[in-house]
Amino acid sequence: MRGQLTRRTPLADNGRMIKILLVEDNAAMREMLASIIAEKGYAVDAVADVASGLALLKKNDYAVIVSDLQLPDMDGLGFLKKTRDLQLPFLILTAYGSIEKAVEAIKEGAYDFIAKPVDPDYLLLMIEKALAATHIARENLVLREVLRSETGRTAIIGSSRELLQEAEKVRQVAQTPATVLLRGESGTGKELFARAVHALSPRRDRPFITINSASIPDNLLENELFGHEKGSYTGAHMRQVGKLELAQGGTFFFDEIGDFPLQLQGKILRVLEEKSITRLGGARAIALDIRFIFATNQDLERAVAEKRFRQDLYFRITSFPIVLPPLRERRDDILLLADHFARKLSLEVRKREFSLAPAARKKLLAYPWPGNVRELQNTIERAVIIGAGPVIRPEEIILPGRPFPVSEGMNLNGGLKEVGARARALAEKQKIAQVLGETGFNRTQAAEILQVSYKTLLDKIKEYGLAEKD
Ligand SMILES: Nc1ncnc2c1ncn2[C@@H]1O[C@H](COP(=O)(O)OP(=O)(O)OP(=O)(O)O)[C@@H](O)[C@H]1O
Ligand SMILES: [Mg+2]
Repeated sequence: MRGQLTRRTPLADNGRMIKILLVEDNAAMREMLASIIAEKGYAVDAVADVASGLALLKKNDYAVIVSDLQLPDMDGLGFLKKTRDLQLPFLILTAYGSIEKAVEAIKEGAYDFIAKPVDPDYLLLMIEKALAATHIARENLVLREVLRSETGRTAIIGSSRELLQEAEKVRQVAQTPATVLLRGESGTGKELFARAVHALSPRRDRPFITINSASIPDNLLENELFGHEKGSYTGAHMRQVGKLELAQGGTFFFDEIGDFPLQLQGKILRVLEEKSITRLGGARAIALDIRFIFATNQDLERAVAEKRFRQDLYFRITSFPIVLPPLRERRDDILLLADHFARKLSLEVRKREFSLAPAARKKLLAYPWPGNVRELQNTIERAVIIGAGPVIRPEEIILPGRPFPVSEGMNLNGGLKEVGARARALAEKQKIAQVLGETGFNRTQAAEILQVSYKTLLDKIKEYGLAEKD
């Protein structure tokens, strides 16, 4: 049967061989499965117990884990839980009679199970399916194709339900002339989505023009938008066409609409209603054929309540909202985006391809990303610039450290000596937790950074009750 398998080597996105980790204690079984997998063209590392599996996972990037349920040092479920942070598809090998256990494993997040005796074709099929579900393959399959603009600049990366749902709205609304409002925290991709709406619309070959209230002084905004006729005010030596007119036939993007001065908000409302403008100092109304997109990271409802934002304009622009969730609420996207940026930026900046070490990925997952995708992108860019490559290590992922209010909430009872000892313990605990977090709980590295012996660090971890999940 194995002779029938195709010999075409499946490759990862980055052109490298796809690596599979196989954990099976029965030597004969292990060798047979490993050879089936290897023959298909995957790189396979086969080990007999969980400890060896975990050690390999620290060192290498695997695309799929295939593991037996009953292993000498830990059962497959425990192994699954220990690898959950890596977000790798986990395939369970299960003997006849332990299907219930396999079902439990799936509930715990395993990708699927394969019953023994193993049918080679079925094993390979499951691996392929699992690969298609991983971020490596998903990135290719999902939105990228659909949402790529003509220029190839717009690629929305994501696989979380939260993001896909909003991206689906982009596709729906793009075809219509409807006004769109993009909402979301800074760095969540509002401008990217605005460009995607344009790129998927019938106006894609016409201009996409944007104005950002934050980058232009208030007194110049109106001129920038509407343009002026010669002599309309002192210093207006020449006629100037405004940005709105430049968008004729295309899309106009009002960025940070919440920050436009009130007086200008009224004029913008009039443009939406009358679909025409008059240049400053001009008499003639110029008809506009423009699709409008607005974006804001502000609480517009509150701005309306506080009379900083016109209610009539609010109603006019909120008919089709697309809300981009913060990155911390769609954690599925973190590694997908990180891989994308690592690959793209390393090729741009270093002319070769970098990838992320497992511990680096873990560190990325543990951070809340207040600056959202932009912050993630900048973080990866920094790592690519400072790193030796080609593997980005956790210490090259530089994140703003949390401040340590040592005395805050601390028990200040007792004498100076007692309080001092307590403060020392607290500060040590926080520092150790921070460094462990930064190194992906790599104790050897943490000991080095903390300048203590490995033994001392282990003692302190025990003393302060620092567990990996913290
Ligand atoms: N889903 C995504 N896929 C790929 N790149 C993304 C995604 N979301 C955001 N980015 C990238 O992150 C950066 C920030 O996105 P963008 O400028 O669109 O955010 P924004 O919401 O407009 O932020 P701000 O409110 O600060 O202006 C851009 O470089 C953008 O290309
Ligand atoms: Mg923006």
